[in-house]
Amino acid sequence: MQNLSSSLEKVVPEAEDFLPLLGTDHIELYCGNAKQSAYYYMMAWGFKPIAFSGLETGRNDAVSYVLQQDKITLVLTSPLSADGPINEHINQHGDGVKTVAIWVDDATKSWKETTSRGAVSVFEPEIRKDEHGDVVLSAIETYGDTIHLFVERKDYTGVFLPGYEAWSMPTDIEPVGLKYVDHMVGNVGWGEMNTWVDFYARVMGFAQLISFDDKDISTEYTALMSKVMSNGNGRIKFPINEPAEGRKKSQIEEYIDFYNGAGVQHIAVATSNIIETVTELRNRGIEFLRVPNSYYETVLDRVGSIDEDLSPLKELGILIDRDDEGYLLQIFTKPVVDRPTMFFEIIQRKGAKSFGKGNFKALFEAIEREQESRGTL
Ligand code: FE2
Repeated sequence: MQNLSSSLEKVVPEAEDFLPLLGTDHIELYCGNAKQSAYYYMMAWGFKPIAFSGLETGRNDAVSYVLQQDKITLVLTSPLSADGPINEHINQHGDGVKTVAIWVDDATKSWKETTSRGAVSVFEPEIRKDEHGDVVLSAIETYGDTIHLFVERKDYTGVFLPGYEAWSMPTDIEPVGLKYVDHMVGNVGWGEMNTWVDFYARVMGFAQLISFDDKDISTEYTALMSKVMSNGNGRIKFPINEPAEGRKKSQIEEYIDFYNGAGVQHIAVATSNIIETVTELRNRGIEFLRVPNSYYETVLDRVGSIDEDLSPLKELGILIDRDDEGYLLQIFTKPVVDRPTMFFEIIQRKGAKSFGKGNFKALFEAIEREQESRGTL
């Protein structure tokens, strides 16, 4: 992540500059068994082990495994004792995202700018050191029990953060071509979307890119509303969803019920070859949502010509959408945890900067079939 250019070109004109963000630093999940989750993300998803903290590094309360694939860093954390905030998080939410960490030039300024605009502090800026240098960390609350950690690492050369030691596995791990976090979606409760849209605008200086209402995103049964917030350079994009009234329970409501509140719904990860990436993930046992084959009978009428042959896309269940700037290819996994909560999206952008609105209906009908099988529609 240190190799990313630090230029902060402004691509979202309405966004404000008081909080320059360099990108997603890492995503931390609290999980019941981090060791086995780490094995899943390594063996199925192709993340490489890079760092560890736990009893062997002098940490007594919890254990964390740090995994990386290109610019995506995951931290998987489990508690080592019977109670405490990590246990409570897992008890409430099941396995899920606790921390969306953002890479910044100045974690002290980030904390001051956001808390002075109304963000609730999790902890004030603090310096952590080891023989590889210093990092400055600070954190604020966002929706649900999720937090944003600001990570300033320009004076640090270690493998992850102070307190962690380099860690590897005695086996080869083959990446699947995942490149970077494209966007991360939050599900919030009834009537709360605009509260959090306002939070990202007012407290973090983000601008709204797109909005979808229940007319855009509804099926015969269920509906939701969504707005997409972006920081100024477009490297951080957070769509925020809330449920809307429908004939049956929406997927957002199902999420909120099982997660016991607001939280991260999906992590969209970019690839430059979605056919290869999804083929490999499927071979390793990852399960994806399927739209009916009839989707492929009319999709090219909607999106026009594309570079790829349609047949491998149809075979894999990859969806296609187009906007004014180009097209995109995307596919969604089934939930990757026990509760029907968090999942992943794999996305390949070919010019398009949007989020696949043209696929929502087909996709949500696919999700409803899954909900029906869970008895939660
Ligand atoms: Fe998405």
